[in-house]
Amino acid sequence: MKTKITELFGIENPIIQGGMHHVGFAELAAAVSNAGGLGTITGLTQGTPEKLANEIARCKEMTDKPFAVNLTFLPSLTPPDYPGLIKEIIDAGVPVVETAGRNPAEYLPALKDAGIKVIHKCTSVRHSIKAQSIGCDAVSVDGFECGGHPGEDDIPNFILLPRAAEELEIPFVASGGMADGRSLVAAMALGAEGMNMGTRFIATQDAPVHQNVKEAIVNATELDTRLIMRSLTNTERVLNNEAVERLMEKEKALGDDLKFEDIIDEVAGVYPKIMHEGTMEAGAWSCGMVAGLVNDIPTVQDLINNIMSQADEIIKSKLQNF
Ligand SMILES: Cc1cc2nc3c(=O)[nH]c(=O)nc-3n(C[C@H](O)[C@H](O)[C@H](O)COP(=O)(O)O)c2cc1C
Repeated sequence: MKTKITELFGIENPIIQGGMHHVGFAELAAAVSNAGGLGTITGLTQGTPEKLANEIARCKEMTDKPFAVNLTFLPSLTPPDYPGLIKEIIDAGVPVVETAGRNPAEYLPALKDAGIKVIHKCTSVRHSIKAQSIGCDAVSVDGFECGGHPGEDDIPNFILLPRAAEELEIPFVASGGMADGRSLVAAMALGAEGMNMGTRFIATQDAPVHQNVKEAIVNATELDTRLIMRSLTNTERVLNNEAVERLMEKEKALGDDLKFEDIIDEVAGVYPKIMHEGTMEAGAWSCGMVAGLVNDIPTVQDLINNIMSQADEIIKSKLQNF
């Protein structure tokens, strides 16, 4: 399938794997890129510029197709070494960077001067327009359904995507709630040039996470995610579990007086325990409502093949017969 996104990134299928903390390692990124999509290594998960360079090198050993690195800009007292991470990305010749979090303007000149394509992930039309105005090549429009941080506007993709299409000149992909060929065709009908998936890619054989995480997604329904940290203006959609219930009790009790320190046990440093050790009650972890549509753990290659053939079937048989 040829779209503005496949042309921009030099990929076969308009399907992107979004950066995911402690999930986006070389194994998953390479599997997605080998299947004709755009895989993404999560920059901050690697820890240091040297470790990111090592992960990029590992990914290059597993694929000769284009892949991306995600750079998430978080408010932090001790910020990560972003210039160091960017230097490694440039030196390694990574062709695409997915930025997320706050406005990436400060780092764009270095990336653009190196010829890197930048896709910024954001959750509102106004942030998408801003990304376009500072020179991003594309946007990943993340609706309220999404796993991770949906922002504070709560606009679902059935409204957000056509609104983005009305305002943007650069191409965008639909992100949040995307699972299959139906999602892809619907996203394109709403104006997107492809789709970005997070949660769906975790429940694959290639995702380098514990089997318990994959099974938790398969067993979850669309009713099983919760929004946490709203009063901190850092809303995150996570899969419900004992730690999340505990955290929400604290939110209820403390209201607007809640501070990050009050919930530190439930959110800080929990990802390695969950993703790699499979200790599912260790804390809160991002998961999208789309878990309700995930019923299997295929290889990434089979997942992408199925998405593309289902999309083809819908376009050729269903839509053209109306
Ligand atoms: C476990 C998990 C971790 C994530 N970590 C990050 C991250 O570190 N940086 C980022 O930009 N997005 C992160 N995301 C968001 C995804 O890249 C993607 O935008 C989102 O999952 C799309 O929604 P979906 O889960 O409904 O497909 C994460 C999502 C999940 C499920």
